[in-house]
Amino acid sequence: MIERLNHVAIAVGDLAAAAGIYRDLLGAKVSAPQTLTEHGVRVVFVELDNTKIELITPLSDDSPIASFIEKRGNGIHHLCYEVNSIKESAKELNQQGCRILGDDKVQIGAHGKPVLFLHPAETDGILIELEEA
Ligand code: CO
Repeated sequence: MIERLNHVAIAVGDLAAAAGIYRDLLGAKVSAPQTLTEHGVRVVFVELDNTKIELITPLSDDSPIASFIEKRGNGIHHLCYEVNSIKESAKELNQQGCRILGDDKVQIGAHGKPVLFLHPAETDGILIELEEA
């Protein structure tokens, strides 16, 4: 089902500081910040040859990203793998009894493509995002 690693998402309290580490210290290509109001987050993408790093910060204290940072501090929030078809993947996961976050609704993710998130209890505590490539 899963193919390439699309991105690793890191939750950060200070987006400008985190972007600066990748741009200035590590010399990576860093996108301009994007505000995704419908997801309640602001993101920056670090573009690497083989994958991306998504730096993600909450827009408000009631965002799930805010509670993640409050509980654990900055850290890896989710891994995103590419799939051929979100609908097919959702069907296969349902057939295996795997819970999907958000009532199985396919959402449009930070790259404007269909995504879904597996319930982390199904995947050893690691939040996994699938994105239609
Ligand atoms: Co993501």
